[in-house]
Amino acid sequence: MFKDTIRGLDKLFKDDIKAPKIILVTGPPGGMKSSFVYALISKYVENTGEFALYTTLEERVESHLENMEAVGIKLSMNMQVSDLTDLREMDQLLAEEEQTNYIDFTEKMVAHLKKKMGDRFTVFALDSLGALYSLMDETGNLRKKLYSLFQTLRDYNLVAFMLMEKPLYGQPPFLGNEGFLVDGIINLGMERSTGKIVRFLQVEKMRAVSHSMEKHALVVGVDGGIAVLGPVLSG
Ligand SMILES: Nc1ncnc2c1ncn2[C@@H]1O[C@H](COP(=O)(O)OP(=O)(O)OP(=O)(O)O)[C@@H](O)[C@H]1O
Ligand SMILES: [Mg+2]
Repeated sequence: MFKDTIRGLDKLFKDDIKAPKIILVTGPPGGMKSSFVYALISKYVENTGEFALYTTLEERVESHLENMEAVGIKLSMNMQVSDLTDLREMDQLLAEEEQTNYIDFTEKMVAHLKKKMGDRFTVFALDSLGALYSLMDETGNLRKKLYSLFQTLRDYNLVAFMLMEKPLYGQPPFLGNEGFLVDGIINLGMERSTGKIVRFLQVEKMRAVSHSMEKHALVVGVDGGIAVLGPVLSG
């Protein structure tokens, strides 16, 4: 999954990961969560001929694709990008009890694609978990539903990326148990290094593979495209 995708990323892992995996990608606003995951997946499906679904709850497909282009990321025919903004609008017309359960909806979407594409459908991304939480009002059941969603994604043998905004300061909008439920956590942050603010990537957790725990610089090359460089020197 990581090999031959984002330049320099495979240096952080001893071996590549195998499906199924649920990977949380955290970071502050503008921390390149969307660009990183999109770039990683599009390169992966281009290399392998497999198929991916990228679901954006935060913005429209067109706007998402425009942003990806700004970072120099090429689109792939092997990836479907869906947004739920249409559903959100529909929701406002429905009575309270008829409102969409977005987790069920996501599970159905995944099931449908698995039926249509078979084993070629291997990667899923949800941008973002925070947006999903804010669309679901019965928070009491949310933990249970999230657990069931992760289970479904594992049953379909997918590598699933869950994006989650984490402010630089203050409390993240987490339920609290996401970290335990997922197989991996990749944090994209910003830090002061030798007087400048630099972007970094840090693998906080990845079950079944040994990996570096160091912060590595994350940059957008002049020719476009994201790359992972050497360790960041804090200070
Ligand atoms: N060509 C470029 N070179 C360097 N940085 C760029 C370039 N194009 C975009 N960026 C940076 O990428 C950021 C957007 O990245 P992205 O949308 O992936 O972040 P995000 O973590 O998903 O943000 P959000 O929390 O808003 O969803 C911009 O705020 C900008 O700082
Ligand atoms: Mg984003």
